[in-house]
Amino acid sequence: MATNRTFTMIKPDAVSAGNAGAILKMIEEAGFRIVAIKMTQLSAERAGQFYEVHKERPFYEDLRTYMSSGAIIPAILEKENAVADFRTLIGATDPTKAAEGTIRKLFAKSIEANAIHGSDSDENAAIESSFFFSQLEQY
Ligand code: CMP
Repeated sequence: MATNRTFTMIKPDAVSAGNAGAILKMIEEAGFRIVAIKMTQLSAERAGQFYEVHKERPFYEDLRTYMSSGAIIPAILEKENAVADFRTLIGATDPTKAAEGTIRKLFAKSIEANAIHGSDSDENAAIESSFFFSQLEQY
């Protein structure tokens, strides 16, 4: 995958609160093009696979339960410097530490229910994108 793409997922807290539209508007207004998008729900098992890298962390079981608790909106986004610019747009993992105007500052409820995910590297963006989308689903 090209280095100008990243992967995101609007999480159950933000979808159930009706904030998906506002978040997607912020993403597009920040210059990201939506290349693939859908609404789906993860099983606890699939959520655990997605966050496999965190399986030794104390919050892993809660994270699996939370991430499978409702609908999510995974998407692939395109923009120059996509991974870094998107992490700036969403803000710190812990919303109490997120900068003003960031998506997490505006919409996250807690460090776990933090509204949105953004890939932390080009390599993980490619892995996470293929977890949800085939190439045919990308535009
Ligand atoms: P995300 O950026 O999707 O990557 C891992 C997720 O684990 C993170 O967002 C949060 O939803 C969750 N997470 C990270 N740290 C903690 C923590 N200390 N307590 C609870 N959940 C966490």
